[in-house]
Amino acid sequence: MKALVLAGGFGTRLRPLSCSRPKMLFPIANKPLIDYTLEALSKEESVDTVILAVYYMAESLVRYLGPTKYDLGILYSREQRPLGTGGPVKKAKDMLNGESFMVMNGDLLTDFDYKRLIDYHKEKGGIATIALTQVNDPSRYGSVELDWEGRITRFVEKPEFGKAPSNLINAGIYIMEPEIFDYIPDGRKVRIETEVFPKLAEEQKLYGFESHGFWMDIGEHHDYLSANERVLERNNLNECGEKTQIAPSTVIKKPCNFGDNVRIGADCVIGPNVSLGNNVQIGKGCKIENSVVFEGATIEDYSSVKGAILGENSVLERWVKVESGSLVGDYAQISDGVTITEGVTICPSKTIEESILTPKQVM
Ligand code: GDD
Ligand code: MG
Repeated sequence: MKALVLAGGFGTRLRPLSCSRPKMLFPIANKPLIDYTLEALSKEESVDTVILAVYYMAESLVRYLGPTKYDLGILYSREQRPLGTGGPVKKAKDMLNGESFMVMNGDLLTDFDYKRLIDYHKEKGGIATIALTQVNDPSRYGSVELDWEGRITRFVEKPEFGKAPSNLINAGIYIMEPEIFDYIPDGRKVRIETEVFPKLAEEQKLYGFESHGFWMDIGEHHDYLSANERVLERNNLNECGEKTQIAPSTVIKKPCNFGDNVRIGADCVIGPNVSLGNNVQIGKGCKIENSVVFEGATIEDYSSVKGAILGENSVLERWVKVESGSLVGDYAQISDGVTITEGVTICPSKTIEESILTPKQVM
């Protein structure tokens, strides 16, 4: 079986960090998200090939993955313009050889059992089967109504508050039959969730299978941080890369994950839930918790970072305070003594010389 991974979205909600890398290359515990996906797919016996549907920053994915990884063949379906979540399926028709296939959103971190989904799909005999999961707030997802035979009778994408059919949502993983191509218009952007699934539901050819286990869409800042936390916690990680040096007086609170060549000065408190990329440099007396620091960033003496994401090669000078929900773009620089409060986003390469005490985006 081939698995088509939708990997071409802009990652709008993760800007500005997604301005320089696609969502699929965001590190989770220092390993790009796409690696988790490929590793999981490689464990599913019936999947031998992955087709990556790429558009935005396609070349960085092609360069990173090449033609094979984890014993899976990797093919690329390149779009000249964005085709949405349905168009890429139609575009890959010839690569899918007229057999049943899997489709998944590339921005997911999950340990769902694909085999059970495949078996359920075969048993039900629909044109498509959607993996479903329960969430508290279905308004950011596709919500479904399921009948007693497992048929999806209604599919509502991003329902308004109070109008969702249920808390069971589309987990972004599908098994499909080639008949699906008849439902997807050719050569244009198609949102499968609004143009295809409702129609299939109406015709009673769409099934849903509730999957259990860990599942997360990393599309927004706090989801991304939670995904990082969950992986660190799950693996109870306390890992250090090669040549990483930590001063003896520094306290590390588990779980944490540090890349290669990281330097941490004296009297810091790092953790819990901190990932530091390769070559991150931290001075003395710093405090970092629940945060992701991308490679090459520098945090100078007595600075603190809490619930934030710091981009590649960003610099926090001395006595800087970065608080929850903040995001510092690649190569941005925050000057001595500056405080950045909750919900502030700093665009790449910006220099910030004064504190920002209300949520805003600094372009
Ligand atoms: N190749 C390609 N081309 N991929 C695309 C394009 C495109 O034009 N647009 C989006 N994608 C990819 C994204 O990279 C992502 O992996 C996936 O398609 C889904 O797009 P999102 O933009 O992340 O959608 P969403 O999270 O708002 O909603 C979708 O996922 C939810 C589950 O996380 C929907 O499928 C919902 O119904 C679902 O509940
Ligand atoms: Mg998403």
